[in-house]
Amino acid sequence: MPRPIHATIHTAALHHNLARVRQAVPDAKTWAVVKANAYGHGIERVFEGLRGADGFALLDLAEAERVRHLGWRGPILLLEGVFEPRDLELCSRLSLWHAVHCDEQIDMLAAHKTQVPHRVFLKMNSGMNRLGFTPQRFRAAWARLNALPQVDEISFMTHFSDADGPRGIAHQMAAFDTATQDLPGERSVSNSAATLRHANGDARVRADWVRAGIVLYGSAPDFPENDAARWQLAPTMTLATRLLAVQQLQAGDTVGYGSRFTAEGPLTIGVAACGYADGYPRHCDTGTPVLVNGVRTRLVGRVSMDMVTVDLTPLIASGMPVGFGSEVTLWGRAGNGVVLPIDEVAQAAGTVGYELMCALAQRVPVTVE
Ligand SMILES: Cc1ncc(COP(=O)(O)O)c(C=O)c1O
Repeated sequence: MPRPIHATIHTAALHHNLARVRQAVPDAKTWAVVKANAYGHGIERVFEGLRGADGFALLDLAEAERVRHLGWRGPILLLEGVFEPRDLELCSRLSLWHAVHCDEQIDMLAAHKTQVPHRVFLKMNSGMNRLGFTPQRFRAAWARLNALPQVDEISFMTHFSDADGPRGIAHQMAAFDTATQDLPGERSVSNSAATLRHANGDARVRADWVRAGIVLYGSAPDFPENDAARWQLAPTMTLATRLLAVQQLQAGDTVGYGSRFTAEGPLTIGVAACGYADGYPRHCDTGTPVLVNGVRTRLVGRVSMDMVTVDLTPLIASGMPVGFGSEVTLWGRAGNGVVLPIDEVAQAAGTVGYELMCALAQRVPVTVE
């Protein structure tokens, strides 16, 4: 028998979250961002749930090939563009659109032999200072690209550093706008946070393509200011396992490595088959929320490689049956429908939902429902 841990990908939730994006920006086209193997979910596993998007955006050429292999004939955008000249051959062969964020990528395009000119997204560094041409250098880059026979349509993109926080997007939006306003072509500026928080009153933020990532996977981009319930998002990944042992503790007994938790009185704990080798964060400490048979309780003691220990008090206090084989939900939806948002677990680990999804370990079996 395999260990009882498994992850479930919820296709209906992917549909629902995509519909939420559509509702937020009804006139925009939506890139479903499926980089990092669809934020850890698996490109093949999310495809059915996200095929209603207008295009798929990702980084890796191998992932782009997988999307084409699934039969997707619509747009695919390489968010970081190409890394070396031969990548352009694959772009030509697979009809990939690609970002152009530096002079070296323009050089590669200028040297590329292709029958069919490429559709590119010229990227501006409007303040994030990762990728893109500064507003001062943007126009010259556009002029160079525009003169290339290898290039067909030129669209424009930028990426926000603070769409989820107090600084907001106004300064970057202004820089982007000023430098692009008289250039012809489509725009793409918004990630999930901008789509949910800033697109409502501002047509520039909605135009023309939004790049929706985390929102599609049911995690709030601006947690804890807002949670997934507030944004009406549904969890797309459940990580669940079962109890493989129960221990009765007395006052003074400790739990796990480093004796990080000491019982103050009699306490029943369960041992669940999930550890950091499954992708559950080792930084989760006593108090991290967890569901047992759909009832909310807490982790006690340190997460180990293959096991976590959980406090069974809330179940025992209410007379609910619990023991070997009881369902444990680390995040997502329990059998009784109760949801434990991945964002809460991520917060307990000092990180974000993105990281937990992406870190789901290879050894965890995954089913799609
Ligand atoms: C360029 C770009 N656009 C869009 C996204 C999607 O972001 P989010 O998952 O916050 O929606 C990302 C992700 O980091 C990105 O790098």
